[in-house]
Order: sequence, then C-alpha cells, then structure tokens
Amino acid sequence: HTGHFTFDPGFTSTCSTESQITFIDGEKGQLLYRGYPIEQLAEQSTFLEVAYLLVNGELPDDKQYSKFQNTITHHTMLHDQIESFFQGFRRDSHPMAMLTGTVGALSGFYHDDQHTTEDEARDIAIHRIIAKIPTLAARCYKYRVGQPHVYPDNSLSYAGNFLRMCFAVPAEPYVVNPVIEKAMDKIFILHADHEQNASTSTVRLAGSSGANPYACMAAGIACLWGPSHGGANEAALNMLREIGTVDRIPEFIARAKDKNDPFRLMGFGHRVYKSMDPRATVMRKTTHEVLGELGITNPVLEVAMELEKIAMNEEYFVSRGLYPNVDFYSGIVLSALGFPTDMFTVLFSLARTTGWISQWNEMLEDPSQRIGRPRQLYTGATERDYVPIGKR
Ligand code: SDX
Repeated sequence: HTGHFTFDPGFTSTCSTESQITFIDGEKGQLLYRGYPIEQLAEQSTFLEVAYLLVNGELPDDKQYSKFQNTITHHTMLHDQIESFFQGFRRDSHPMAMLTGTVGALSGFYHDDQHTTEDEARDIAIHRIIAKIPTLAARCYKYRVGQPHVYPDNSLSYAGNFLRMCFAVPAEPYVVNPVIEKAMDKIFILHADHEQNASTSTVRLAGSSGANPYACMAAGIACLWGPSHGGANEAALNMLREIGTVDRIPEFIARAKDKNDPFRLMGFGHRVYKSMDPRATVMRKTTHEVLGELGITNPVLEVAMELEKIAMNEEYFVSRGLYPNVDFYSGIVLSALGFPTDMFTVLFSLARTTGWISQWNEMLEDPSQRIGRPRQLYTGATERDYVPIGKR
C-alpha cells in the first residue's frame, strides 16, 4: 500500500492513494473497515476494538485487546497547562475552533523524539491521540457551557468516559445509561474512517511533509469543519428544524431542485455513494432506539423520515444518486443525547481521529512514501513583461 500519485500524460492529473484500511463501493452502498462490513462492526464490536482493527489491520485477541485498552485508558489525562489554552477562547467560540486550536497545541506538549526509534515515537503518538481526543472534546463542551471540566474515570468504557466527562457535574452523581453508551459507541464506529475523504487526504498531505501527528490531526479537524463535509450534521439538523413540519417539505424539495437557489438538502448526496450510505441506515435505527429509550417524540424525526421518503421517490434525486448520508440522522440522535448542534462536528472529529491516525500511520509505514505534491492545470496568463505603474 504505497501512497503514490499517478499522472495522466496530459495536464489533468488523477491523484490516487493506495490503502488497505477502508473500502467503499458507492454503487452498492458498501463500507468495509479492513474487510469487515460496517453493519456488523456497528452491531457486534466496540469503538476501541474497531480502533485497534483500523490501526493494526486485524481484530485483536483477548490479550492484545486488554493491552490496547489499558494503554488507551492510561493516556486519557491531559497536561494541566492545556487548560490555559481554553481560557484564551471566548466562551461563545465555536467548539470546533477550540478543538482545532488545542489539538494543534498538543504539538507543544508531547515531544515524541524522546523515544528511541521512529516506530516507537509513532506508536506512542497513535495511542496518545486516540486516548486524549475524548478528553479534549469534552473540555470544549464544558468550556462552551460554562461548567467545570471533568477528569477521565479509568473504570469506564471509551464512550462511557466521554459521556461522563461531558454531562457529569460536581453537584450530583452521574450514572452512564448503557443504552446511551452503546449508541454513542456505535456512532463513533460509524464515523471512524471513510477512506480518502477531504479531511483524511488533508491529514495524509500534511503528514507526507513530516509534520508532527498532532499538527496533522489539527489540519484534518480544520478540513472536516466545512459544511460540505463534517459540518453537514449540524447543517442538516438546522435544515430539518427550519422545515419544521411535514407540510413544508415540498417547498424545500423545490428549492433543492432550483438551480437558481443555492439551497441544498443537507445530509443528502455524497461524492462516492450514489445509493444509500450504509451508515445512514444504521444511524436511522440508532435514532429510533435512543428516542425510544429516552421516551422522546421529536417532530424533527418525523420531518426527516418524510423528507427521506419523498426525496427517494423524486426523479431529480434518484437520477443524481442523491440519498441520505451519515449526516442526515446523526444530528437528531446527537441532539437527543443532549449535545448542542455546534458540538456535532466535534463528535465527528473525535471518532474520525482514529481513522486519520490510522491512515497517517499507514502512509508513514511505506518506505517509498514521498511528500505529496498535487499538480495543477495552469489556465493563467502567458509570460508577459512588467509595466511600471505610471504606464498602466
Ligand atoms: C461527508 O467524502 C466522504 O467520505 C465524506 C464523508 C466522510 O465520512 O468523510 O462521507 C462525510 O462529508 C458526507 C457528505 C456531507 N455533506 C452534505 O450532506 C452536504 C450536502 N451534500 C452536497 O453538498 C453534495 O452532495 C456533496 C458535497 C456531499 C457531494 O457533492 P458532489 O458529489 O460533488 O455532487 P455534485 O455537487 O457534483 O452534485 C451532483 C448533482 C448536482 O446537480 P446537477 O449539476 O447534476 O444538475 O447533484 C446535485 C448538484 O446540484 N446535488 C444536490 C445535493 N448534492 C448534490 N442537490 C440538492 N441537494 C444536495 N444535497
């Protein structure tokens, strides 16, 4: 799996990366992590086991899993000086601004060169990043809502620890709801990796120059923030809330089809999937499970289900292969779990960090790896002489 760029003889270049981590068949709506179907992993595995699979290529046996789990659990704390970075943000800063900034700042705290070999430095960085991203993400939330941050609890699962760090308050005990914990873990699995999407390609490009892993993760987070990419979950829920009731759906369908209207159905369409995103199917089921467990009837879910049904029978969308993607339902379930919309992409980043670090590691394991250098098709001015300003 060598990262290499193949160029057409002409100017247009096709940029392709070889990888053994994730396979997508957009026509069939198939997604495999190291060969395992996402549907099976979401229902039968755990996020930490999937993290081990993505990084190492195989599912762990008992001994390997407990060693991995133990290493992650004992690296969840942050250097306490990181707190001072949060104090620099306005309370109403977008949590993605805080996450981008503080993950990049980790470069100043963890000097992996103290490890004897490059492989050892890479190995500890992988474990540190997977371990610390939930603690950082939870701190973004706590800072945003003006509550004291909560330290990790090593007796809890990866998802349970994150939920507690977000929702526990000193004034009262917090007990992790196992249904919510399983849903959170499943959501992390669904978002863990997705081959060479925009943010993963950003991480690979940054890593190809030899930039440190924390800076590479920050680059990925910055790219994921865009509303066409990871920011779509926040945009999709805002859109569903704007539609408000089922009877207003035709108005928005018409707008989405109107070429003079920049409006797009957020949570619909995909660069690769031209059929249902398999993650959306699992996410829809999880949404019903969580709302049922919490006894929530959410009118937005009714709008989402009706919008999906109408759009999937509308020639405009079907002919363009526009189906719900992973972001269409995620906002509804994350909102039901108690997260504000501006935290949705932080959660996406938390899960995708494992995919990014796996892809970064795969790239660096390749001895023939060279710095990424996408080419261009130049359409600018041909050579010409300078004209002094008085003669222009
Ligand atoms: C993610 O790459 C990944 O794997 C990303 C991701 C991951 O896990 O990393 O899967 C996560 O980013 C999912 C996508 C989340 N984004 C959104 O939901 C935003 C809304 N979707 C669109 O902006 C759009 O569908 C994209 C950006 C996702 C995909 O864009 P494409 O493939 O470039 O599609 P396109 O712009 O070429 O559109 C093709 C046609 C166009 O119409 P025509 O010119 O053929 O007439 O479909 C139309 C578009 O106008 N179209 C839409 C639409 N998406 C495309 N029309 C209405 N609503 C939409 N959402």
